[in-house]
Amino acid sequence: MSPSPAQQSTRRRSRLEPELVPRRDFLGRSATWSAAAALLFGLFGMLRLPKAAVLPSPSKRFRVALPESLAPGEPYAPPGRAVALFRDGEGAYAISTICTHLGCVVKVASDGFHCPCHGSVFAADGSVAKGPAPKPLPWLHVKETSAGLYVIDEGVEVDPGTRA
Ligand code: FES
Repeated sequence: MSPSPAQQSTRRRSRLEPELVPRRDFLGRSATWSAAAALLFGLFGMLRLPKAAVLPSPSKRFRVALPESLAPGEPYAPPGRAVALFRDGEGAYAISTICTHLGCVVKVASDGFHCPCHGSVFAADGSVAKGPAPKPLPWLHVKETSAGLYVIDEGVEVDPGTRA
């Protein structure tokens, strides 16, 4: 008696040879895994929703203590802020250190402000000494607190010469 074709095929296949998966089963498994992957990615996206994607910017109002050793007219640049704070006989005042040309942060020097980007020079009162800056550096609102600190509001410009 001769073996059936199914028995012949099992006899010829090696133990190391993977079992053949019918096409219909393969497509079914592929669809299942694709759906599972899509659900996982969707779930991952939903888990990220409560976390804010945009961090809040720091407040434009901040408090700063002027060093006691600051000489009249000498600039003090609080770290991390684009402001120079001064104190003289009439009070304290703050000048923005953001260049009015294209927004670079100017360097505070003994004779005023120097922009490292395109060479604008501003006098100690913020007025333009050399272009291309079109406007003077703005003066910012400063208020002295009872604790001897100064509150600077980078969002509020005041007339040049205004002191706390
Ligand atoms: S940004 Fe200051 S001179 Fe251009």
